[in-house]
Amino acid sequence: MFLTRHRRASQARTRSSLLRVSPMSAAVLVLVGAVLAAPVVAASLSTTSMTVSVGETATRSVTSVSGTVTVASSNAEVASASYRASSRTGGTLAVTGVAPGSTTVSLRDRNGTKSFAVRVAAPMTVTPTELTVGVGASASLTVANAASESITVSPTSTTVFAARVASSTTVTVTGVGVGAGSIVVSDGQTKVTVAITVTAAAVQPPIVKGQLLASNCYQCHGTYGSGGFESIDGASASEIYSQLKSYAASTSANSIMAAHAAGYTDAQLQAIANYLSTVNK
Ligand code: HEC
Repeated sequence: MFLTRHRRASQARTRSSLLRVSPMSAAVLVLVGAVLAAPVVAASLSTTSMTVSVGETATRSVTSVSGTVTVASSNAEVASASYRASSRTGGTLAVTGVAPGSTTVSLRDRNGTKSFAVRVAAPMTVTPTELTVGVGASASLTVANAASESITVSPTSTTVFAARVASSTTVTVTGVGVGAGSIVVSDGQTKVTVAITVTAAAVQPPIVKGQLLASNCYQCHGTYGSGGFESIDGASASEIYSQLKSYAASTSANSIMAAHAAGYTDAQLQAIANYLSTVNK
């Protein structure tokens, strides 16, 4: 009986002491929880990743800095990073591409560390960087490793040449007038200068009537009919023509020339004879 009562009293005390302690414990727990859950806020930096070209420096402004800022690149051979304070609470983070690859840049202040991935891309190349094109002719430049799809070329047109972006990997240059100049191909990060020389168009001598037909004769009579089976150069047009006509009329099956001459029209024989009489006299 006594025992039971004592136990009850003790239980009641325990309950009340529990009740008494409870609000305090809860408060402590909440406080500890708050401290653990509160994000450790480093300087504000929204960048989560960055791509730079070799030799290019990209910057990000940093605000809400607390204390001294230190920056580090996990692979300084790929990219270097530095911080320049412009006030007590902010400044500029600069990342410079050193060689193609990946690294992690972290910025640390009194409140913690923020990191982001940096990719260093090989710079855009344009080949060739010296181009010679004739007036009226076109040639292509090949673009590789462009940082973006939108390549630009300037100037796009001059009195010497015209240049246009044909695709994300090709720039077409057309010669307009004799002269020289240069164009700049840009992918927004890298600028490549290409020297352009425009030369006079190669003059193709016009084909003289009978010339192509007569060139067939050179296989046996030498170029311009100067040798081979029988020299046919130096003869007058009428001499050659009449000979060809007689070959064509010949029924002799064992004459090469009979078979040959019979294959041409009269006008063609005349053109051939005329042409041959004008060359290699
Ligand atoms: C496959 C070889 C061959 C070709 C091609 C050929 N000839 Fe002949 N030509 C001959 C031979 C062989 C002779 C001499 C024998 C003959 O009279 O049949 C000859 C002779 C001639 C003669 C006479 C020369 C002379 O002084 O007697 C003339 C002219 C001539 N050829 C013109 C031509 C012309 C023009 C062509 C092109 C349309 C031509 N030949 C193409 C083989 C050829």
